Amino acid sequence: MKPFKYGCVVGADFFCPRPVLQNRLTEYIRDGQNVVLVGERRMGKTSLIFAACKTLKGYRMLYVDLLNIRTVSDFCNRVATAAAQMGKKASFGSRAMSFIARLRPTLSLDPENGMPVISVDTRTAEDPRSMTDVVSLIERFAKEEKLFVVFDEFQEIKKLDDSEQVLALLRSRIQLLPDTCFVFSGSVRADMVSIFTDPASAFYKSALTLEVSNIPDDDFIPFLLRRFNSGNRKADPDFIRYILEFTNRTTGDVQQLCAAVWSTTEDGQYLQESNIAAALQDIFATEGGQFEFQTAKLTRYQLKALIAIAKFGGEKVYSSEFLQRAEMPSTTTLTKALKRLTDDRLIYNYRKSYRFFNPFLRAWIVNRGF
Ligand SMILES: Nc1ncnc2c1ncn2[C@@H]1O[C@H](COP(=O)(O)OP(=O)(O)OP(=O)(O)O)[C@@H](O)[C@H]1O
Ligand SMILES: [Mg+2]
Repeated sequence: MKPFKYGCVVGADFFCPRPVLQNRLTEYIRDGQNVVLVGERRMGKTSLIFAACKTLKGYRMLYVDLLNIRTVSDFCNRVATAAAQMGKKASFGSRAMSFIARLRPTLSLDPENGMPVISVDTRTAEDPRSMTDVVSLIERFAKEEKLFVVFDEFQEIKKLDDSEQVLALLRSRIQLLPDTCFVFSGSVRADMVSIFTDPASAFYKSALTLEVSNIPDDDFIPFLLRRFNSGNRKADPDFIRYILEFTNRTTGDVQQLCAAVWSTTEDGQYLQESNIAAALQDIFATEGGQFEFQTAKLTRYQLKALIAIAKFGGEKVYSSEFLQRAEMPSTTTLTKALKRLTDDRLIYNYRKSYRFFNPFLRAWIVNRGF
């Protein structure tokens, strides 16, 4: 069996324990203390939530994934469906349906996994006030079950037309549930932080923040060595450290590179830095098309700036050396290019320097020899 997994929530043997974060999160949940979970993309926020849930005996998790919601009725559907899927019993679905009867819901089964799915009538649900009905649904369940609620990718609320109204309504009702913990999870790079730190926002200072950064090397290195070992590969800590540096210690990228190294090497092999090249080729084979597409959309100077960061690093982008290497006619052109690359989420600002969101795109650019 493959010893590494990426691109999905991980648990069991694939999950490196994070005792400090897990304990803190479970404490907050037991105390009914609302919490904002923020971190870079693919750092392991969602996996952490599921791991915490496993250790919380007697609690049910109402897990609502808000990724790609565009309308209030999408929001209603996600909450109602999450409630219906809260436990194995079919009664959760029928209760959820009855609590939001006014929104004329219909129940169907997901053809892929047979799980219940609830859809509300879009004509009744476009009004932000229909949110009241789904929030009441949460309140009803919270009265009946020991519950904590997770809104994952919470920043997506900002994409709704009536987001301010929706946020204000949610906040006012959540306040009425002091014993139920709400976990708001999302990526730092998105609007997540502003929702909780902007004094004008309805959620200003409404929850404590828990930051999910990289897994400490002292925990992650032995874990990854054990995973390689279980997959019949041998490695030493320096090899793992190389992988960690290469991926900026982003948990999901670390697992992706380890998975590629594993699948491009043989049983019993002793892993070395020279094995990385083949692993990267393996990644390019599946992601190269996407990289091609992302870079083809860029203007000449945006591409030059991106290539220069890939080759020379994003530390001193306004030095005359960088401007020369990137062949930039002026700092204004560079500023514009960096803004667009940041808006497009190809790079991000990290401690006064620029980094690639995806370390494999950086490697692909260097490899292409642009
Ligand atoms: N504790 C962990 N131990 C080992 N690998 C992990 C751990 N947490 C996350 N990962 C790796 O990171 C990947 C992404 O994890 P997860 O989806 O939990 O992150 P996320 O921060 O929620 O990501 P996103 O920002 O995309 O929502 C997983 O598929 C797995 O490869
Ligand atoms: Mg996630």
